Amino acid sequence: MAKQEDQFKKVISHAKEYGYIFGSSEIYDGLSAVYDYGQNGVELKKNIREYWWKSMVNMHQNIVGLDAAIFMHPTTWKASGHVDAFSDPLIDNKDSKKRYRADVLVEDYAEKLNQKAEKEIAKAAKCFGDSFDRAQFEATNPRVLGYREKMKAATGRLAKSLDADDLADVKALIEELEIVCPVSGSKNWTDVRQFNLMFGTKLGASAETATDLYLRPETAQGIFVNFLNVQKTGRMKIPFGIAQTGKAFRNEIVARQFIFRMREFEQMEMQFFVRPGEEMKWYEYWKETRLNWHTSLGLGEENYRFHDHEKLAHYANAATDIEFNFPFGFKELEGIHSRTDFDLKAHEEFSGKKLQFFDPELNESYVPYVVETSIGLDRMFLAVFSNSLQEEELEDGSSRVVLKLPAILAPVKVAVFPLVKKDGLPEIAKKIVDDLKFDFNVIYDEKDAVGKRYRRQDAAGTPFCITVDHDTIKDQTVTIRHRDSMKQERIAIQDINAIIEQQVSFKSWIS
Ligand code: GAP
Repeated sequence: MAKQEDQFKKVISHAKEYGYIFGSSEIYDGLSAVYDYGQNGVELKKNIREYWWKSMVNMHQNIVGLDAAIFMHPTTWKASGHVDAFSDPLIDNKDSKKRYRADVLVEDYAEKLNQKAEKEIAKAAKCFGDSFDRAQFEATNPRVLGYREKMKAATGRLAKSLDADDLADVKALIEELEIVCPVSGSKNWTDVRQFNLMFGTKLGASAETATDLYLRPETAQGIFVNFLNVQKTGRMKIPFGIAQTGKAFRNEIVARQFIFRMREFEQMEMQFFVRPGEEMKWYEYWKETRLNWHTSLGLGEENYRFHDHEKLAHYANAATDIEFNFPFGFKELEGIHSRTDFDLKAHEEFSGKKLQFFDPELNESYVPYVVETSIGLDRMFLAVFSNSLQEEELEDGSSRVVLKLPAILAPVKVAVFPLVKKDGLPEIAKKIVDDLKFDFNVIYDEKDAVGKRYRRQDAAGTPFCITVDHDTIKDQTVTIRHRDSMKQERIAIQDINAIIEQQVSFKSWIS
């Protein structure tokens, strides 16, 4: 645990040191759970957004984009259920005065049991070696079965109490499980109560005439209210999807863990409109497609898992999370939800406008069902960044800090160095920068010894360095150095562009 915390601290300080993420308005001591992206962070974020956009919109002929406004008519949020049901169950510890999400306390308790079970399994695997049968061990070992049973009982009861809005039972569960406050260590809890997460604001010049608005807590509703605009003007036929990226705002009470849970964040969402009755087929399709998108980035298949929801949101008939192995354990990275016809029907009811599709094959009109994929861009950033930050022992006994970002996402693709600041080498290096800058984000660096420059780019995440030396003048070749393997090769100046393009093109990563 201490090792995990240590690693996470390193992630946060590296993100600041290399211009990826700064605390918001830091000169005024910052604003809790709000962050700014620096010169490298904004590039990485843009590249992740683009990787998502291309794979969702460009790669699917039946998915188109949208950019809806953050401000929406306030009735939108009544129809969507957010005014009545978008809240977290909160509980306070009377001794530490710290506030927690009651459901998260129970989920953390369950995760601890899961870790105990995994420890037993790992111990047995070590004992039995190659002959170890994990499935059989899990099905028969009394200790593992005991942990799993306790887990299921706790999460099952939590889901039931939350569904029934029985907050007294949620408190009773926390007491029965003897969950203690991580700060005070006491079990002195207040009652559980619901807290709405939407930020309110006002539109209008004077207090008397101003309209109450909400900052959108999800981008999805902008898609639903534009369903018919897009369907008609784009002549879209079901099944089809609308994709959107943009800011969302939530007054998170327990906002911890850096950019994992923020108050202002960015979502990348896609609503896929399907025939009623076909939603489970498409739900399975999107589960598989989205997991493939994640694994295409090479962060390790073992770092992802599905977590099916026991407690479904008010709009869903099936839901799963793609969880990622963050430095603080497996947590939700993306949600895939079968949202039924809840949203379109609710907007029909509240607006009095029909939101239906005439299906020529069935010769009938219906309100489509929706399968949604929803991922937090900042959370994806954290997944990529934390997984990429590594400390390596080198053969010569030294060590290096390297940010092994997938090359397609790296903020700067190439750094170009003259070996020395004389003999015409800087001029050649600058000419190479000028040629490459049309296709890639490229930088020039002539300060310090070349080894130090390599280390600087390793830590910043730049996948390729090009060094111009005295041989370049003779034979028009340069050295290309690969960040991950540290291998160096001699290549012709005229081949640089094609070699890098092959390594960072969307086509070579996604297929
Ligand atoms: N439209 C459905 C929806 O918004 P959600 O599970 O509440 O579903 C989707 O959010 C994704 O948005 C999450 O999987 C997560 O990646 C991201 N997300 C949600 N709340 C967040 C927060 N406070 N900070 C950063 N990312 C967040």
